[in-house]
Amino acid sequence: MVLRLGLIGHPISHSLSPWIHNEFLKIANIQGEYKLYHGKPEELSDVLKHLREIEIDGFNVTVPYKQTIMDYIDELDPEAEQLGAVNTVVNENGKWKGYSTDGEGYVRSIQRPFPQLLNRDTSILLLGAGGAARGIYRALMKEQLKQVDIANRSIEKAKLFLNMQLGNSKSAVLSYNEAEKQLMNYDLIIQTTSVGMKPAVDEQIISLENVKKDAVVSDIVYQPITTALHQEALSRGAKIHHGHAMLLYQAQLAFEKWTGIDIDAEHLVEKLENQLRGE
Ligand SMILES: NC(=O)c1ccc[n+]([C@@H]2O[C@H](COP(=O)([O-])OP(=O)(O)OC[C@H]3O[C@@H](n4cnc5c(N)ncnc54)[C@H](OP(=O)(O)O)[C@@H]3O)[C@@H](O)[C@H]2O)c1
Repeated sequence: MVLRLGLIGHPISHSLSPWIHNEFLKIANIQGEYKLYHGKPEELSDVLKHLREIEIDGFNVTVPYKQTIMDYIDELDPEAEQLGAVNTVVNENGKWKGYSTDGEGYVRSIQRPFPQLLNRDTSILLLGAGGAARGIYRALMKEQLKQVDIANRSIEKAKLFLNMQLGNSKSAVLSYNEAEKQLMNYDLIIQTTSVGMKPAVDEQIISLENVKKDAVVSDIVYQPITTALHQEALSRGAKIHHGHAMLLYQAQLAFEKWTGIDIDAEHLVEKLENQLRGE
């Protein structure tokens, strides 16, 4: 039997998900396929009807359907429900169940290279309050951390995050100006906006003038692999964490939900980087 997997979104022709999941299928020694199911918004219901007909085993969902898909599935994982977004659908005996693996994928991706980083003395600054930031914030709230602050252009959007507070970590909402001034307070700075993405590679959401020397600066943008923010971080003696690692680990979690297999993905980080560079 061939495991049928895929991705819906628009546009998706340059997606790296087929490459990642084909690597996972090889490692797991599973016969399967991971196909791209393109569809403009007006074609979405036909695409999903087709996926029901072929009894697809599971699929990923990307921009712009992470919210819309919720109208088409049978059951929502409570975390995906709280986030209001789904990036992974599992066919459980004919019923489609929706999950979000972005946030937990991020946490796994940072814990691999920095296993001691997330602890009760850690202060984190999240730059941005979009969909990706919501997932990351929700996942960080499950760790026991000292402080997880959010800075965003639209302050009102950031304030909504405070409704997701769980556990004991404290949170405050800041402007980018305020964040720049108190940057030395943070052990981990996570850039989640689209600023700095190709082609605007010289753009940077904030200056890192006040960053702590041994802090980690993480940017979830992966086109380019090393962003302007990363470069400034390195020049100031900070450590860096790349966005493609998150891409890999959110996929690893999706694959685990479809197959029950926990792939050791660490050795694929560099291979994925080469794919992104077109090597
Ligand atoms: N590495 C991965 O696996 C991964 C996964 C998901 C997403 N991403 C990347 O993360 C980025 C954000 O994705 P998303 O889905 O969260 O998008 P989104 O929901 O549209 O959120 C966009 C965020 O960027 C901010 N922003 C956009 N343009 C800005 C500008 N010119 N100045 C200041 N802030 C600006 C928005 O601020 P306002 O709220 O003020 O508008 C918001 O915080 C994208 O580059 C995406 O490719 C990477």
